[in-house]
Amino acid sequence: MWIFGRNGASGFSATSTAEELTEGIHASGLTAIVTGATSGIGSETARVLALRGVHVIMAVRNTEKATQVKETILEDIPNAKVDIMELDLSSMASVRDFAAKYQSSGLPLHVLINNAGVLSPQFKLSNEKIELHFATNHLGHFLLTNLLLETMKTTSYEQNTEGRIINVSSEGHRFAYTGPLSDYMNNESSYSSIYAYGLSKLANILHANELARLLKEEGVNITANSLHPGFINTELFRGHNIFSIICNRILRYFIKDLSQGAATTCYLALNPQVKGVTGEFFVDSNLAKPSSRAKDQELAKELWEFSMGLTSSK
Ligand SMILES: NC(=O)c1ccc[n+]([C@@H]2O[C@H](COP(=O)([O-])OP(=O)(O)OC[C@H]3O[C@@H](n4cnc5c(N)ncnc54)[C@H](OP(=O)(O)O)[C@@H]3O)[C@@H](O)[C@H]2O)c1
Repeated sequence: MWIFGRNGASGFSATSTAEELTEGIHASGLTAIVTGATSGIGSETARVLALRGVHVIMAVRNTEKATQVKETILEDIPNAKVDIMELDLSSMASVRDFAAKYQSSGLPLHVLINNAGVLSPQFKLSNEKIELHFATNHLGHFLLTNLLLETMKTTSYEQNTEGRIINVSSEGHRFAYTGPLSDYMNNESSYSSIYAYGLSKLANILHANELARLLKEEGVNITANSLHPGFINTELFRGHNIFSIICNRILRYFIKDLSQGAATTCYLALNPQVKGVTGEFFVDSNLAKPSSRAKDQELAKELWEFSMGLTSSK
């Protein structure tokens, strides 16, 4: 249970729920992709968006698990529009396949929620032999966003609506590896799950910031923002005994439940308060300050080039 609940400038706080943040919003004309919608924050995000009428595409690697989540949503909201599409973010081939199928479906795309994430105690490599946190949490989403951008631009232009891209980052971005990006890549000897996860979450913020800058420069009506959802005891910490102990024993008074954990994402996806707001970082549905590295424009450009290099060659 979260014990602090002071409202910020938006009028919302850490205790606000995703349903409260989207109260009264009718979004039946919108289509949103939510990555990692099989559990935790992603499943609650999918449910609340569906409750507001959004056509939700659950982009997931485990379609069986997704079917169960979809059935639960439909029990709660019988007229919900929810579809499942397979996507493994740790495989660039899977990301390309997903994007191609999405494009050929002819569906519009108003909101892209880059939510999926891993926190792996062990050093692991992705399909393309890239460190798993960087590959899944950042690179997969970076490629996915680039491949879906034309569809988002077309939707925004043809329907005269604002597109929104939301990267679910973390306060953990403050613990990222330091030093040149290429130095830590695939270096098992210096591996730390906290630093590797932190770097991928720093990349989520830098990605949103640079994307926001480029979209603004291009004059496109699409915003890109990032957020920290709060601390929520989800499957993210599976296999991490130490984290589970910290969550359950020490942080228990600061932990949000799922309805609060999905709040900032749903706020950025649907709330009219953030219309036109781009390149910002949010915590508890309010503007927040990320680390100085996360605000570094040169680092954002460097990450963009580095990511383009890694995704174009695979
Ligand atoms: N929980 C927290 O306290 C907290 C704090 C800060 C930030 N976050 C961020 O919040 C986001 C959601 O995390 P959560 O806490 O809700 O964790 P979660 O319950 O473990 O959900 C993570 C989701 O990501 C999916 N996923 C993992 N690897 C994938 C891959 N290769 N391809 C496609 N999907 C993949 C998982 O799918 P499977 O079901 O198939 O495993 C699951 O649906 C993450 O980005 C995380 O970094 C969480």
